[in-house]
Amino acid sequence: MADRFFITTAIDYTNGAPHIGHAYEKILADVIARYRRLRGDPVFFLTGVDQHGQKVQQSAEKEGVPPQQFVDTITARFVALWKKLDVRYDGWAATTAPSHRAIVRAILQRLWDEKDANGQSRWLYKAKRSGYYSVRQEQFLTDKERNASGEFGEEWGEVILLEEENYYFRLAEHREWLLALIDRRDDFITPPFRRAELRNAVERLAGDLCISRPKSRLAWGIEFPFDRGFVTYVWFDALVNYISFAPGYEPTPGADLREFHQWWPALHVIGKDILVPAHGVYWPIMLKALGFTDEQMPTLLVHGWWNISGAKMSKSLGNTVDPDALADRYSPDAVRYYLMTDIVTGKDADFSEALLVARYNSDLANTLGNLLNRTLNMVWRYCDGILSDGAAEGDALAEIRQAAENRIRAYCAELGSGSLPDRTAASPGARFQIASALQQPIGLATTCNEFIDKCAPWKLAKEPAGRGELNAVLFGLAESLRIVAILLSPVLTRAAHGIFDQLNWKMEQARDEARFHLSDASWEAGKRLPNGHQLGKPTPLFPRIEAA
Ligand code: MSP
Repeated sequence: MADRFFITTAIDYTNGAPHIGHAYEKILADVIARYRRLRGDPVFFLTGVDQHGQKVQQSAEKEGVPPQQFVDTITARFVALWKKLDVRYDGWAATTAPSHRAIVRAILQRLWDEKDANGQSRWLYKAKRSGYYSVRQEQFLTDKERNASGEFGEEWGEVILLEEENYYFRLAEHREWLLALIDRRDDFITPPFRRAELRNAVERLAGDLCISRPKSRLAWGIEFPFDRGFVTYVWFDALVNYISFAPGYEPTPGADLREFHQWWPALHVIGKDILVPAHGVYWPIMLKALGFTDEQMPTLLVHGWWNISGAKMSKSLGNTVDPDALADRYSPDAVRYYLMTDIVTGKDADFSEALLVARYNSDLANTLGNLLNRTLNMVWRYCDGILSDGAAEGDALAEIRQAAENRIRAYCAELGSGSLPDRTAASPGARFQIASALQQPIGLATTCNEFIDKCAPWKLAKEPAGRGELNAVLFGLAESLRIVAILLSPVLTRAAHGIFDQLNWKMEQARDEARFHLSDASWEAGKRLPNGHQLGKPTPLFPRIEAA
């Protein structure tokens, strides 16, 4: 049976327009999901928007519109962007959805109702706290937050003295358990270098998590089921999306979760800024409270950030990059390709429009576009567009076939062929090295271009004795292009169809993602282009982008 994949991303805050960082994460998850579908694995890809909170409430007030209207407008921009960028998800997590609100409330009630021997909730308690509070960052400050001169720096904005009663979720008592989990489950966090960072944070874990805000201060949230004076604040709302929108989850203790566990544990694709403490500390402890076993904890795929000239991208600095405008200027495929090739999964990278153009021109316009164009032109010029001798072997053809097979193997090695999470294998069954994986089809296209120069089909065409070899060479090129299209299809969602269309292959599935299967990336009879196959006409697929 194929392995099921439940893939999620962070849900994006709806207090501002989407930027290239949001787009990167969604495309990364989309490519992983598409790769898994290409393998034939059942996939459920969940993404969405985080719609509650103080910032939204304030922005809506400023604009003089109700918060729901405010988030609906921003949400529509995210939805339109994912459509434009071909981010294809199966579930949409919007935290104002009534179903989500109901599950968050049921979970709070469940944790409140689970009493210890003294009749106190095992997980939650109410307590009064007073001290310095940062209005901008919405948190109490301790002496740790003071700078060298003993003050709270500008980053905290206005700091006031505040006394407030709130609900807390017990964290500190789970420290040893969490440390043991991190040590024992080496697939809990990937890439592995993030593990030490989390471990250090857990070792320092002291306090508990404040999970409420009095309604007088924050109205735009999910009301506590057992205390109407409070709404739940940030993480008990946002993190729960990963289960509330998963197929088959029920918050009631003892519920039948068989359907849910066909999908869960999830792969959470998140940025490095929300590993500690949210996803690495709060979330596993919340799941533990809900009865999840150690084996049922998710895998966190932690990606790096896109920066601008080494600096953080931010609305206040005014240096954010708009993915929507980029897709209009260069095409969605160009944006997807750049974001997947110019970064190592897990590391940071610098965004540069000039590099986007350079990479497009070199890999797609020159290497791949040229190969497609030259191949089709030659098949039309010398053979009326018809491939023959599909089964022909010969040294030249054997060489190109070997190259293709090696490339397919290397591609799969970079992306993984095992299940996820793979609790038994020493090395993880799923890898996420998209940039290295993409070097394989592009490398194959380069090899094919060199092969053309070496075999000089134009010379073979002039000699009657060269016919057989000419046919074999042209077949090998067309067949390689078919394989390149399959391997690129998770990233180049449109161009992969363009290549198949020009090869006149599987036309009955034009524009359908199901057109591509990894198992078709093979020269075996029945998979390969058949003898006598008629190719389509060449049309430029990747016109060069000229510098403005
Ligand atoms: N709403 C929270 C997440 C809740 S998940 C239960 C949030 N939202 S966010 O809009 O600020 O960020 C959404 C995702 O985008 C995060 O994973 C974050 O790391 C990622 N990115 C935000 N800026 C980024 C870059 N500049 N580069 C890459 N990813 C970045 O956090």
